[in-house]
Amino acid sequence: MRTQVGIVGSGPSGLLLSQILHNAGIESVILERRSRDYVEGRIRAGVIEQGAVDLLTIAGVGERMASQGLVHEGFDIALNGERTRVDLAGLTGGRTVTVYGQTEITKDLINARLDTGGTIIFEAGDVRPEGFEGASPVLSFTQGGAREALHCDFIAGCDGYHGVCRASFPDGKIRSFERIYPFAWLGVLVEAAPPSHELIYCRDTRGFALFSMRSTDVSRSYLQCAPDEDLNEWPDDRVFEELQRRLGDSATVAAGNVLEKSVTPMRSFVAEPLRYGRLFLAGDAGHIVPPTGAKGLNLAASDIYYLSNGLIDYYKNGNEGLLDTYSATALDRVWKAQRFSYYMTTLLHNAGDDGFEDKIKLAELRYTLGSDAALKSLAENYVGLPY
Ligand code: APR
Ligand code: PHB
Repeated sequence: MRTQVGIVGSGPSGLLLSQILHNAGIESVILERRSRDYVEGRIRAGVIEQGAVDLLTIAGVGERMASQGLVHEGFDIALNGERTRVDLAGLTGGRTVTVYGQTEITKDLINARLDTGGTIIFEAGDVRPEGFEGASPVLSFTQGGAREALHCDFIAGCDGYHGVCRASFPDGKIRSFERIYPFAWLGVLVEAAPPSHELIYCRDTRGFALFSMRSTDVSRSYLQCAPDEDLNEWPDDRVFEELQRRLGDSATVAAGNVLEKSVTPMRSFVAEPLRYGRLFLAGDAGHIVPPTGAKGLNLAASDIYYLSNGLIDYYKNGNEGLLDTYSATALDRVWKAQRFSYYMTTLLHNAGDDGFEDKIKLAELRYTLGSDAALKSLAENYVGLPY
């Protein structure tokens, strides 16, 4: 089998890259380890920057997001129950974010790819990137018990944090930077209206909480918990009670049927560089952010913007310049989003030591909430830095 760009992973990164390349007349094939049902069922975050909305729309997959997504012009930060609104639109000259589940984006992208004749090989086993140091990369894999080979010009490693592509870089050719946080998020997806029509990020003496949503009648909420928190100790009633405690009495947490409950670890991670020979990393394969800044999917989108521009320039004009600068260009934006995600995470969680660090972070939060300049910086980063 032969294609122009071999893509590993059918998450948002791989799917969006494949769709943008298709629109530019460039062929690709996606190899995905999991089944289609599994990929379409994963519950992930849901705040989309304007830049990512625009990119998805230009790629031709913005229709359902435009009709079902919720445009948010602001959100609240609550400190021990007292809420302050961050007027995103007012502080950024009219920029907004869209609340629309990543699960839905994945479904939209898979449908678009299959409708336009794209090839996604689900349940591709033991994918191995080979030959990418030279001009003829190959992705070997198993399908239905047989070993197959996908020959290509370039490999796009869009296979997430646990993927095979980053692990295939030769020793000494990639460096990792990492911070693991001493807390995690217990998330619930609930068939009930969220407490407010906008998101509420809470810092409370009992810990962080976030009130988000997937629609006006499905809420998505999170509680700061221990990384090894036992879900068995969190029956639904206890979750709702704790959410209400951390929110305070300015709004009511509605109970409802719990559709999903899980613990998400918190990690900051960056690999450098994002390229070796003809192998490129994009999205979670190259970096992970803690979810507090809502940047995971948005960074995947900006990586794909830069990488697709590089590939299109190569195929249309024979220029390799943008491919050569891809890693540095993408990493510049990644590190700025890492900084913001770290800032939001440390600002809003209790470090647990009740010591100097906590006092400084509390002072920083109180300063931010009372300063137009600080709020402007926060809002500018939350809606997304320019590509
Ligand atoms: N072979 C083939 N496919 C693989 C392999 C492998 N060895 N390893 C992983 N995959 C697949 C996974 O099953 C998954 O479908 O790669 C895909 C990676 O998708 P994501 O993890 O969603 O990563 P990405 O597309 O970069 O999207 C980033 O996802 O994790 C969130 O917060 C993150 O919102 C961000 C977004
Ligand atoms: C979500 O809706 O899942 C969500 C929203 C905002 C975040 C993180 C997650 O910062």
